Amino acid sequence: MEYRRVGKSGLKVSAISLGAWLTYGSSVVEEQTAMDCVRAAIENGINFIDVADMYSYGRGEELVGKVVKDYKRSDLVISTKAYWPMSDNVNDRGLSRKHIIESVNQSLKRFDMDYVDIFFCHRFDDEVPLEETVRAIDDLVRQGKILYWGTSMWNAANINDGIAATQAVHATNPIVEQPEYNMLARDFVETGLETALANHGMSMVVWSPLDQGILTGKYNDGIPQGSRYQSVDWFKNHITPYKIEKAKGITQLAHDIGTTPAALAIAWVLKNPLVASAITGATKVSHVQENLKALEVQITPEVNQKIEDVLHNKPVIRKFN
Ligand SMILES: NC(=O)c1ccc[n+]([C@@H]2O[C@H](COP(=O)([O-])OP(=O)(O)OC[C@H]3O[C@@H](n4cnc5c(N)ncnc54)[C@H](OP(=O)(O)O)[C@@H]3O)[C@@H](O)[C@H]2O)c1
Repeated sequence: MEYRRVGKSGLKVSAISLGAWLTYGSSVVEEQTAMDCVRAAIENGINFIDVADMYSYGRGEELVGKVVKDYKRSDLVISTKAYWPMSDNVNDRGLSRKHIIESVNQSLKRFDMDYVDIFFCHRFDDEVPLEETVRAIDDLVRQGKILYWGTSMWNAANINDGIAATQAVHATNPIVEQPEYNMLARDFVETGLETALANHGMSMVVWSPLDQGILTGKYNDGIPQGSRYQSVDWFKNHITPYKIEKAKGITQLAHDIGTTPAALAIAWVLKNPLVASAITGATKVSHVQENLKALEVQITPEVNQKIEDVLHNKPVIRKFN
């Protein structure tokens, strides 16, 4: 396994990590299989497991907490998040001081842990003063309940404002942003976010590096049994003929260079120097194993050019004088 430093911090995470969204603690993956996936990840050197309060409404945290009891807690980097509503209550959501403190306390109970390594603000909350949010997080850091914090889907302006707020109140800086990033979703990262993160010494840990399975090539010839297409209603709108066409091109290229499309897609996000980890999902132990092959893939300039020729989606940044 390769381990990468997270931003300017001293924390190191495995370049490939595992997340629990739509899978662990849900009805989609049986509990035993979910536990086997997390175990396979840890036993293959994955040290970073990404969860959120709202993944299966807390059951994702319970499942992960149960598995990691069999391992040394200090060997692992466990994250959680808050922002999305956890109930109908007006305060059970967002990035208010009230919700952040209560949410982290609830997450720790569900994990049955004393601390999480990284707490993510799951989105930007424009109803709450940033100073309120960063002070609440700073208090949790000082109490030892969270060790580091990060953001998720905060754009460059949000990140810049967040850092200005931490500086104004002398609070701990975020070390990491968690954006969606894969061969088919590049704009959010490549049109300004990278500059903001580099300026503030932050890394990215990126989600859906396989575009939820599309970049494994599994949908190239139809809908496979037991796939996310069948388990998640809105996935039907996420998958398009355009994406399938690109996945077919990436599949062919991967086979030409002796690898799998999944490994090539993950290796592609990992070649970005700001990426500390690719957060993969897996419904089977074999997915965890196959996705680790990304670490063996070398993306030479020639291969990279071939990838760009297939994708044809590099964002163009126009500069106006
Ligand atoms: N911060 C955020 O807002 C946010 C949002 C989304 C996700 N995330 C994080 O990112 C993690 C990963 O997201 P994701 O699940 O969308 O990632 P992904 O790696 O792009 O997709 C994972 C899914 O693709 C399929 N798959 C994976 N490897 C495969 C393989 N080798 N062969 C065939 N199929 C394979 C599996 O689904 P099927 O078997 O069901 O087809 C698996 O559940 C989440 O668990 C979460 O931690 C964060």
